[in-house]
Amino acid sequence: MPALVLIGAQWGDEGKGKATDQLGGSVDYVVKFNGGNNAGHTVVIGDDTYALHLLPSGILSPGCVPVIANGVVIDLGVLFQEIEGLEARGVDTSKLVVSADAHVIASYNRVLDKVTERFLGSRKIGTTGRGIGPTYADKMNRVGVRVQDLFDEKILRAKVEGALELKNQVLVKVYNRKAVTVDSVVEDLLSYVDRLRPMVCDTGLLLGQALDAGKTVLLEGGQATLLDVDHGTYPFVTSSNATSGGACTGSGIPPNRIDKVIAVIKAYTTRVGEGPFPTELDDGDGERLRANGHEYGTTTGRPRRCGWYDAVIARYATRVNGVTDFVLTKLDVLTGWDKIPVCVAYEVDGVRFDEMPMTQTDFHHATPVYEYLDGWTEDLTTCRTFEDLPKNAQLYIRTLEAMSGAPFSSVGVGPGREQTLELRPLL
Ligand code: GDP
Ligand code: IMO
Ligand code: MG
Repeated sequence: MPALVLIGAQWGDEGKGKATDQLGGSVDYVVKFNGGNNAGHTVVIGDDTYALHLLPSGILSPGCVPVIANGVVIDLGVLFQEIEGLEARGVDTSKLVVSADAHVIASYNRVLDKVTERFLGSRKIGTTGRGIGPTYADKMNRVGVRVQDLFDEKILRAKVEGALELKNQVLVKVYNRKAVTVDSVVEDLLSYVDRLRPMVCDTGLLLGQALDAGKTVLLEGGQATLLDVDHGTYPFVTSSNATSGGACTGSGIPPNRIDKVIAVIKAYTTRVGEGPFPTELDDGDGERLRANGHEYGTTTGRPRRCGWYDAVIARYATRVNGVTDFVLTKLDVLTGWDKIPVCVAYEVDGVRFDEMPMTQTDFHHATPVYEYLDGWTEDLTTCRTFEDLPKNAQLYIRTLEAMSGAPFSSVGVGPGREQTLELRPLL
């Protein structure tokens, strides 16, 4: 079972960190292939809670090599803060490797992310403000700064100069901000180079050789299917490919080496930031889901928007990612509802859609068609097998599974490692 991809099926925060940690003991490499410190993956181990942003969750599994691959955008300040924070808690981070091809988030891109959002006003995306979008835009515009550029000061200076020529015009003339000096950016980036150098390698080559040697590689996605820049709810998306295809381009591992695509999906739906969300609840049920599920962002602390499970999205995620297994999370949060609505299709201007509508306009106007499943009152957090669950919770799982297009391999009933019911082995 050489390469596995693990991605989010909805709008993020499905519990990818916990799922990755759960597999961490059985894999040799855990690779972050997209995004940056816009992600927030919480892992609970015993009494300890870790909130990871830039580091792959495999950093917490002692036998694992954590890899930050070429598709990631790296805020070097955050990288070393996270490393220091973990080391101070006794976590060994010495195996971490970083791709020479990954792009770095320069200070001007953090500024641009924030001022652009302010400028957009009511049309804003609701980004995390970490400079993710502007850094990926630079990559596509071919004016980005890569990790390897830090090893050649002359090249680095030339690249920063080139990028700032236009950006300073925009900062000063459009946004009325101070110009950024080339020196300050170069100095800031070079302040990390000595600590960074020993971690940097050709991660594509490393992973290719590892697979040849029969090692197991887990590719851990940040964000999720509906935040993918191509397949998500554009423009209310992040700026990378968070679907399984992004795992190939973002790591240098080709598609024919990938054996499994695991999609993590919540037993209900949440979203942070702006954009359409058909099953969103603006009532007491939404508040109850938020309170019971502790639905506040790991990265920005923003309250997450909450709504019911959407099987149209699940089927879409199955199709776009080639999902072979679903990991269902947070079933425990649904305890106490008499009936639980599940969205099986949409209606747009009187027309039924069983698949995602082709246009964003239709998706914005989609209203959910619900089926109502019987709820349960029992606390699920101490259940350890499928048979321990109340009958209606079992039925809820099997009904969702039948609607979603791929088998459910495990079910989460709490944040702890032990609070997972295995339905069939993932590895
Ligand atoms: P990620 O971004 O996909 O890694 O997800 P987050 O870590 O941002 O959000 C998921 C949250 O739910 C975290 O706080 C997890 O500890 C927690 N969590 C994961 N699985 C379960 C579960 O089955 N039940 C409950 N109650 N919490 C869970
Ligand atoms: P994890 O990996 C949930 C959202 C932001 C915003 C949009 C664009 O924890 O699931 P960006 O800063 O990426 O340009 O913001 O994407 N977003 C996330 N929402 N979970 C995440 O990551 C997210 N990363 C970005 O809220 O709507
Ligand atoms: Mg998260």
